[in-house]
Amino acid sequence: MNSKITPETIRAMKGRGEKIAALTAYDFPMARLLDQVGVPFILVGDSLGMVVLGFPDTTHVTMADMEHHVRAVARARPQSLVVADMPYRSYETVEQAVDNAKRLVAAGAEAVKAEGGREIIAQARAILAAGIPFSGHLGMLPQHVVEEGGYRVKGKKEAEQQSLLADALALADAGAFAVVLELITPPLAREISTRIPIPTIGIGAGPDCDGQILVTPDLLGMLPWFSLKHVKPKLNAAEQMRAVVQQWIGEVKAARAK
Ligand code: KIV
Repeated sequence: MNSKITPETIRAMKGRGEKIAALTAYDFPMARLLDQVGVPFILVGDSLGMVVLGFPDTTHVTMADMEHHVRAVARARPQSLVVADMPYRSYETVEQAVDNAKRLVAAGAEAVKAEGGREIIAQARAILAAGIPFSGHLGMLPQHVVEEGGYRVKGKKEAEQQSLLADALALADAGAFAVVLELITPPLAREISTRIPIPTIGIGAGPDCDGQILVTPDLLGMLPWFSLKHVKPKLNAAEQMRAVVQQWIGEVKAARAK
């Protein structure tokens, strides 16, 4: 029988050189399926806003949205670690960060993730001091996409490289159990991965992170209206769904015609 995955399990995987395969889930069936195939780290990501709720970016996702979907994922009672994203503007102050992290834990999250480095280190430390495991998220920060005017690879310039490395070291020093590196140049992602003791989980950050994370509907080809450079779908689920539904419509119509 498998045992429950904890933040410590995820950290120990880095120690053993075992790569971490993380995926997102937003509901009960996906959490159950990912758990059944042994995904150790399930993120209830605020990508929810785009891939489930139909918003243009993650800045529309609320605490209530996150709680609703964390509850659905937690009902699957996975062995996987359930990590919940702290949504846009839910961690602007230390008090607000701790209150909202506690709400996500009450909904069933076993750890939380928030975007940023040294600028949110007080919030990260306070969440950890409240006994809630914390994952960082550096590089392209989707909650900043509106002010930054798009999704851009980070770490091309020396100053940005130094800053991201300092952020990663600060998060590790604060006690984060992992850090997501999103759209960071692969050499910088490799450098950060060797310099910090906690696992780096990359998305569009090259092969040398300690693990990789994908938005599951992107992996399954469920959202053909998004075209992404960092992921090639392994399945054309949208096409297969359309074909099956069309076939079924045909069967229904044929039966009525008899
Ligand atoms: O919201 C999300 O799904 C994420 C991943 C892209 C890492 O933060």
